[in-house]
Amino acid sequence: MHFHILVGTTSGNTEYLADALGERLAALGHTTTLHDQPELADIPTGSAANPAHWLLCMATHGAGEYAESIIGFMEALTTTQPDLSAVNLAIVAIGDSSYDTFCKAGIDAEAIILELNAQLIAPTLTIDMFHELDPEANAISWLNQWIASYT
Ligand SMILES: Cc1cc2nc3c(=O)[nH]c(=O)nc-3n(C[C@H](O)[C@H](O)[C@H](O)COP(=O)(O)O)c2cc1C
Repeated sequence: MHFHILVGTTSGNTEYLADALGERLAALGHTTTLHDQPELADIPTGSAANPAHWLLCMATHGAGEYAESIIGFMEALTTTQPDLSAVNLAIVAIGDSSYDTFCKAGIDAEAIILELNAQLIAPTLTIDMFHELDPEANAISWLNQWIASYT
């Protein structure tokens, strides 16, 4: 199976996480494309016979805003409103619980993408960088919980 990994990062933490998930998927025999500056036009939205698989790794910045690398992608989604009914999606939302807008970008992105008819593969994982000692291990353990039954 091929996964498109979409990265929303400003200062790079989320890229480490996305890389770790990509390595785990590769170890399980899957292929991945890492989009560190996601462009809607470059990311397949699948078809009924051949759905697309997206893994969105999304940090929150500002006061609950999208991280830098994914602002354009989210704007393109809300402006063009593509049909995502053939997109199967899992989300890792990264944030810091000392903000009252904890993981808001990931939560907002989930609502927007589901509104465009995508399917969630797994419950969205929130990672709290304030308390989390090993965010990569946490994300991999989450992936391990759903990947076998999905693929
Ligand atoms: C200026 C700034 C604003 C932030 N705002 C939020 C926020 O509103 N909500 C949240 O959950 N985390 C917030 N964070 C925490 C980041 O999501 C966290 O540091 C994350 O690891 C950054 O990921 P990145 O390095 O991939 O950009 C903020 C961090 C910074 C530096």
